[in-house]
Amino acid sequence: MDNIHQFVQKSDVNAAALAIFGIIGATVVAFKVLSFLKLLFDVFLRPGINLKKYGAGRGGWAVITGATDGIGKEFAFQLASKKMNIVLVSRTESKLAAIGAELEQKYNIETKHYAMDFAKGADSDYQALQQLLSPLEVTVLINNVGTNHEMPTPFEQETDTIIKSIVEININAAMRMTKIVVPQMVSRKNGLIINLGSFAGLVPTPFLSVYSGSKAFLSSWSQAIGAELAPKGIHVQNVNTYFVVSAMSKIRRASMLIPMPKPYVQSVLAKIGTSGGASTPYTMTPYYSHAIANWAIDHLFSRGFWVQQNYNIQTDIRKRALRKKEREAANSKKL
Ligand SMILES: NC(=O)c1ccc[n+]([C@@H]2O[C@H](COP(=O)([O-])OP(=O)(O)OC[C@H]3O[C@@H](n4cnc5c(N)ncnc54)[C@H](OP(=O)(O)O)[C@@H]3O)[C@@H](O)[C@H]2O)c1
Repeated sequence: MDNIHQFVQKSDVNAAALAIFGIIGATVVAFKVLSFLKLLFDVFLRPGINLKKYGAGRGGWAVITGATDGIGKEFAFQLASKKMNIVLVSRTESKLAAIGAELEQKYNIETKHYAMDFAKGADSDYQALQQLLSPLEVTVLINNVGTNHEMPTPFEQETDTIIKSIVEININAAMRMTKIVVPQMVSRKNGLIINLGSFAGLVPTPFLSVYSGSKAFLSSWSQAIGAELAPKGIHVQNVNTYFVVSAMSKIRRASMLIPMPKPYVQSVLAKIGTSGGASTPYTMTPYYSHAIANWAIDHLFSRGFWVQQNYNIQTDIRKRALRKKEREAANSKKL
């Protein structure tokens, strides 16, 4: 009789344990399903903040770093098409002047430009920029300029010059530009700061360690200043970007996962204030396939799994890049 009683008690405990695990499992799955539905809502249905809030059509200025190619150039054209005045900043004076003239003629807006090499981190350049920007009503800052390792490289073999230029361009330029424009945004209680983040900042990327670390900095810093500046009316958004066709990505053909700069920037500007696939605050992943990839990284498998995937991908890219270098060296010897 005692044995039967114990058996009944044990199976009651087992059933209760199973029910608890079942409830926990169902809750976890329900949260994941809900977060995926929110992603679909953000990416396909929810409208972003209208750029009129940031002075589009009312004399507001957008400052764009790295504005003469790729994603930055596309921001310049799309913001100009929404009647924002534009300040273009990158290295090449001739490209800056040509793009400025094209924007003015095409969209009937005002432009200004300043040529500087962010890698130099020269105080004189930032002072000149401060003077250029102080009389303007700067309402939007696109911290877009960025640089990467020339190829996937083990950290200890990377040159000091490349390490220094990644830190100077990807980290210091964003902070210094932000420091220049934030005081006037605060005084007007209005502003938008967009930082061009990367999936390399979301998942540490072996062999691109300094680039990856710089984008992780950008992600963390964007969240911190995003919280500081929100009560002052300034919206900060780290844009989590997977690959986009550009000179930097060295990818020439678009695919489902790799858009051209035009649709990519369209997705960013249409979705200001939404998060898309990103689950970190003050962060957005607006492009639909990037959003799904971001969601998968955040919700499926461990972070260690994704780091190992990056290790495998970059090892393969490094092998191919080294073989290409060898071929080029052999060809140049033949000439
Ligand atoms: N493309 C991607 O797949 C991808 C993925 C994730 C994140 N991102 C991020 O998106 C941003 C833009 O990348 P992108 O692919 O559009 O780059 P890109 O096509 O190579 O364009 C870079 C722009 O920055 C300027 N620039 C480069 N070095 C500079 C320097 N030292 N000082 C001043 N200006 C400089 C270039 O003009 P000049 O040469 O005339 O100076 C050009 O206008 C970067 O922050 C990047 O990390 C890109």
